[in-house]
Amino acid sequence: MKTVLVLNGPNLNLLGTREPAVYGSQTLADVEALCAKTCAAHGLQLDFRQSNHEGVLIDAIQEAGRAQAAGTLVGVVLNAGAYTHTSVALHDAIKGAGVSLIELHISNVHAREAFRHHSYISPVAKAVMAGFGVKGYALAIAGLADLA
Ligand code: DQA
Repeated sequence: MKTVLVLNGPNLNLLGTREPAVYGSQTLADVEALCAKTCAAHGLQLDFRQSNHEGVLIDAIQEAGRAQAAGTLVGVVLNAGAYTHTSVALHDAIKGAGVSLIELHISNVHAREAFRHHSYISPVAKAVMAGFGVKGYALAIAGLADLA
């Protein structure tokens, strides 16, 4: 059974209490349960992680690249949070690892502040998902499953 890595960046551990008008009231544990259910429905295994630290996210992406090359991983769903808009290092990691990656945002970043309109992730992502709320995680996993 192949794995999907769902990787969450800074402040996503606060889901449920953080700006609920923007991100909804579901917690990260709720999102993990949704991802687990979606993976099971597609015959995939879930690896679900969150870190507030850029280097930890980079290590996880490099590890995912090795797993994809070994044939054990379908790809990554990444919500890089604010690092989306700042991190050349994440861009380089995704490119260097050669991993299939879906960029995900709970909110529609293009309908928000101008500083959220630029993404360092988009040019190295297979697809971009934004604005579907936490349901986007399920949609992104379904999209990756199609590539498997
Ligand atoms: C986010 C959007 C980012 O701009 C923000 O910094 C986040 C969450 C989203 O899921 O909508 O932390 O990636």
